[in-house]
Amino acid sequence: MAITLKTAEEIDKMRVAGRLAADVLKMIEPHVVPGVTTDRLDEICHDYIVNQQQAIPAPLNYRGFPKSICTSVNHQVCHGIPSSKVLKNGDIINIDITVIKDGYHGDTSRMFMVGKPKVQGQRLSQVAYDCMKIGIEMIRPGIQLGDIGHAIQTYAEKNHCSIVREYCGHGIGKVFHEDPQVLHYGKPATGVVLEPGMTFTIEPMVNLGKRQVKLLPDEWTVVTKDHSLSAQWEHTNLVTDDGFEVLTEHPDWPL
Ligand code: MF3
Ligand code: CO
Ligand code: CO
Repeated sequence: MAITLKTAEEIDKMRVAGRLAADVLKMIEPHVVPGVTTDRLDEICHDYIVNQQQAIPAPLNYRGFPKSICTSVNHQVCHGIPSSKVLKNGDIINIDITVIKDGYHGDTSRMFMVGKPKVQGQRLSQVAYDCMKIGIEMIRPGIQLGDIGHAIQTYAEKNHCSIVREYCGHGIGKVFHEDPQVLHYGKPATGVVLEPGMTFTIEPMVNLGKRQVKLLPDEWTVVTKDHSLSAQWEHTNLVTDDGFEVLTEHPDWPL
């Protein structure tokens, strides 16, 4: 599959979809409190996306995924399925939102601290955020994806954390997951050369312990093998003529 370069009209639609996805995260924040179930968070997001935004929650029925958002708690790395699980004080949770509006996708996720943050969870979330930010700020025409992956990996490892290898960022547009694959590790001066009009996510999954993961029997939820905490932040990004634009940035939460 070739990498698609988006036209000005397509970019406008991706800005709209990206902003809607960011708005869902902003909307859900006050609901992420001790005692809430991840099913309830899913239900609130689903209703908001469908009824307020008149958009489509992309995960629902995507390759058989049963819910409208992903909720990954503590040692869950990604693709956690909302359930009757009750959030408790000190938990960390990634909420991953993807909406489709006017045929285009916006994909973003972030960490929330449930109740009073614990030092380890807060520190890991910060390292994962910094990894994402370091990667995004490197985006410009001419740079290679291996340069970005290498910088992210180096930062995580310098902070005694590890980068998950089995899941990566991705091109995005009319299609949820398209080329290129955006690895969060790698070698400088390798891989795809960025060009204006490319749109892709950066979404490093960072573990406090070892990088190895396993898939639960539900065939979706990914967890750390050593049960160490895992954190992830994600934005959808555009390569511009002289740098980047974060399509899923929320004005209250600048990069
Ligand atoms: N939003 C996830 C990503 O960042 C993908 C979720 S796929 C699902 O790519 F089916 F689990 F929803
Ligand atoms: Co994504
Ligand atoms: Co996502």
